[in-house]
Amino acid sequence: MKYAQLPDFPADFLWGASTSAYQTEGAWNEDGKGPSVIDVREEYPEGTCDYTVATDTYHHVEEDVALFSELGLKTYRFSIAWTRIVPDGDGEENPAGIAFYHRLIDELLKYGIEPLVTMYHFDLPAALDEKGGWGNRVTIDAFERYARILFREYGSKVKRWLTINEQNMMILHGDALGTTKLRGMEAKKDLYQQNHNMFVAQARVMIACHELFDDALIGPAPNIAPVYAATESPEDVIAAENWYAIRNWLYLDLAVRGEYNGIAWGYLRERGWEPTIEEGDMDLMKAAKPDFIAFNYYNSQTVGAIAEGEAINDGSGDQQIAWGEEGLYKAVKNTHLEHTSFGWTIDPSGFRTVMRQIWFRYQLPMILTENGLGEFDTLTEDGKIHDDYRIEYLAKHIEQIQYALADGVQMIGYCPWSAIDLVSTHQGVAKRYGFIFVDRTDDDLKSLARIRKDSFFWYQELIKNNALPSA
Ligand code: BG6
Repeated sequence: MKYAQLPDFPADFLWGASTSAYQTEGAWNEDGKGPSVIDVREEYPEGTCDYTVATDTYHHVEEDVALFSELGLKTYRFSIAWTRIVPDGDGEENPAGIAFYHRLIDELLKYGIEPLVTMYHFDLPAALDEKGGWGNRVTIDAFERYARILFREYGSKVKRWLTINEQNMMILHGDALGTTKLRGMEAKKDLYQQNHNMFVAQARVMIACHELFDDALIGPAPNIAPVYAATESPEDVIAAENWYAIRNWLYLDLAVRGEYNGIAWGYLRERGWEPTIEEGDMDLMKAAKPDFIAFNYYNSQTVGAIAEGEAINDGSGDQQIAWGEEGLYKAVKNTHLEHTSFGWTIDPSGFRTVMRQIWFRYQLPMILTENGLGEFDTLTEDGKIHDDYRIEYLAKHIEQIQYALADGVQMIGYCPWSAIDLVSTHQGVAKRYGFIFVDRTDDDLKSLARIRKDSFFWYQELIKNNALPSA
C-alpha cells in the first residue's frame, strides 16, 4: 500500500547509532579486563584481523563521543564488556573496568546523548565458558549478578537497557560467530538448552530492573528477518512459516509472552532437542515483561520446501550463514533483490514487513538497533570517503520507517550499524559500516585517525531536520 503523504518522524524520535564492545574497544587485556570467548578465539576467516585493537575506542573516548555529538546523535547504543566488570564472569569486580564505562556514560551525558546499553553482545567471559557456558545454570546466576552490578553503578544514568544482543544468531550460527565451541547438528540439543538458560537469565534481569527502578526501560535485541516463500506452492509457504517461527518468533515469543512458540517447540520435540525446563522457569518468563522490543534488521531470506535427500543449495543464505536444514527448508535465491559486495541481500521493504509483523504481534514500542551497509570504503586523495552507496542504502531503509509509521506501527528510534568503523563479526575491518572512517586495515594499524565520511554529513543533516534530506 502506498500513501500520498508520509508522516513526519515524531519530534522525540531517537536517532542514534550502534557499536559493540569487542568490535570497537580494543584494549582486550588492559586495566584488569578478563578474556572473553571472543578473545580466546583461535580461528579467523582468512585475511581478517583479530579484535585485540579493533578501532581502539578504549583510548579514544573523548574524541569519539565529541564526534558523535557533532553528528547529532540523540542516543548511542554500545555494549558493556562483561569481562571488564567481572573479569572471570562471576568473581571479583574490576574497579578500573567499572570506571571506564562511567567515563564513557558521563561523556555521553555531557553532550546530551542518551546511553542505550547492551549488557551482553556475544562476549561471554571465557572463564564461564570453561565451566560449560550457557549450558551450565551457574551462568544464569552470574549474568543476574553482573546485571545487578550494572544497575547499581549506572542505574541512575542509564534509562534504557538491552539484555542480550542477537540471542538467535548465537544459537543458530554460534560456530560462525565463534561464540560457542559446539559444532554441528549433534550439538543442537545443548544449544537449545543454552538458549533456554539465556531466556531464564534475561527474565531474571528484566524483573530485577523493574524492581529496582520506576523509570528504567528494558528489552531484548534479537535479529529479525522476514522469511519469504520461494513460490506460491503451499509446501514452500509452510517451509517459510516454519523457518520464520524457528528463526524469529521463538525468540520474541519467549521474551515478550514467556511462551515457547508452538511451531518451534514441535521442531525441537521432533528432533529430541527440547531443553530441560526446571520448575519455576516458565513462571519467571511469564512474569518478566519487556518495555520495548529492540531488533536488528539487515536482510530478508527466501526459502522453499526441501525434499528428502535434496542437497542444501546456496541460494540466498541468512546473513550469508544459513543455507537450509534437512527436513525443514532450503534457501532460494530471490531474483528481485540486489546484493551488497559481501553478498547480503538488500531489502528495504523487508524492513517494513518486520516492523509491521512485530508490532501487530506484540504491540510494544520498537527501536531498530542495527541496520547498515558493510562495504569496502576508499579514502580518496582529497582525504574523504565518498560513500554515496551507504547514503542510498540508509535512505531507502529510513523511508520504510515512515511507511511503517503510516501503517500505525510504533517505531521510536533508529540506530544504524555503525557509529564508527569497527571490526566486522565475519569479515574483518575491510568490511566497513561506520559514519566515521578509522584509518587502519586488517594487517596495518596505521594512524587510527578518525575521518568523517560523506554519510556522516548526510546523517547529521537528517537528524538536525528530523527528516530525510531531499535526494
Ligand atoms: C550483527 C551483530 O549480527 O551483525 C554485529 O550484532 C555484526 O555484531 C553485524 O557486526 C554485521 O555483521 P558482520 O558480520 O558484517 O559484522
